[in-house]
Amino acid sequence: MTSGGAAVDISDVVVSYPGSDRRAVDGVSLEAAAGELVVLLGPSGCGKSTLLRTINRLVVPDSGTIRIDGEDVRSSPPEALRRGIGYVIQAVGLFPHMSVGRNVGMVPELLGWERARIDARVDDLLALVQLDPARYRGRLPRELSGGEQQRVGVARAIAAEPRVLLMDEPFGAVDAIVRLALQDETLRIHRALGTTIFFVTHDVDEALRMADRIVVMNAGRIVQADTPLRLLSHPATPYVERLMDAGDAVRRLRLIAVRDAMRAPDGAATQASIDGDGTLRDALSAFLDGVERLAVTDAGAPIGSLGFDDVRHAIARTVA
Ligand SMILES: Nc1ncnc2c1ncn2[C@@H]1O[C@H](COP(=O)(O)OP(=O)(O)OP(=O)(O)O)[C@@H](O)[C@H]1O
Ligand SMILES: [Mg+2]
Repeated sequence: MTSGGAAVDISDVVVSYPGSDRRAVDGVSLEAAAGELVVLLGPSGCGKSTLLRTINRLVVPDSGTIRIDGEDVRSSPPEALRRGIGYVIQAVGLFPHMSVGRNVGMVPELLGWERARIDARVDDLLALVQLDPARYRGRLPRELSGGEQQRVGVARAIAAEPRVLLMDEPFGAVDAIVRLALQDETLRIHRALGTTIFFVTHDVDEALRMADRIVVMNAGRIVQADTPLRLLSHPATPYVERLMDAGDAVRRLRLIAVRDAMRAPDGAATQASIDGDGTLRDALSAFLDGVERLAVTDAGAPIGSLGFDDVRHAIARTVA
């Protein structure tokens, strides 16, 4: 089930809404590599959703271009474009009178797939988002919890194997534990399918956890676009620094021991070592120096290894 992702090239995009003297998106350029997970992060009203919606043409920019694998989004009819782009929003938007199965199979049905192929696909997808097909396929959305509805929303968005997936605060309405599970789900799907994902959030910890690259926006513009590690270590402006602090991530790093975040020795190459009783803040310093993976030791003996991904994981685990 590998569909791969598409490269998305956003160039000089400007959006202003009628009747407003302020631009909602004010000259944004951003390239996402195929298979990249880009998080758009910033305060309410900064233009995240508007920018996202220019990609599937729910919003038409005043100027600028968006290309998916080199092709201008204006070159195909909007409906055809949207069938090729998954879209998940906070208010899940499932059709209330249709079963879970029909909701998930909606786009394949529109694309004219054969019934048997749709049915098989729906069951695969429900299993992928950890909903037992036999139990859930025939239920109505109102017979599901909020978190289960979100999962159906994700399954529906990826049903036709889109090469681009747009997620606008998809997990805003669920509790911290379910949110972590859904984040894991999404990361697993991302790894399995290689889909290019744009993920909007105003939760710093969610951004740090999910992103290959975080794009910090403010007042319609990009303030900084960088890896989570770079944003933590080299915030470009005081605003970004405050934003990162708001997530408490760095403070929390001091509270977590390396041994509680490490993984078992797996033969991966390491460039330096750290004691298991050290804190993740110490480890972060090593990563900032360019170390990719640390050997973790106890009285000099190897007990595991630690990468920046493990640090991110540990940060997120302390949220719940
Ligand atoms: N349909 C619309 N008509 C007029 N103005 C709009 C419309 N949608 C958004 N705006 C305005 O455009 C700006 C950007 O809105 P947008 O929804 O993109 O922000 P956002 O970053 O997604 O915010 P939030 O985190 O609250 O969802 C805001 O000032 C908003 O009021
Ligand atoms: Mg929004």
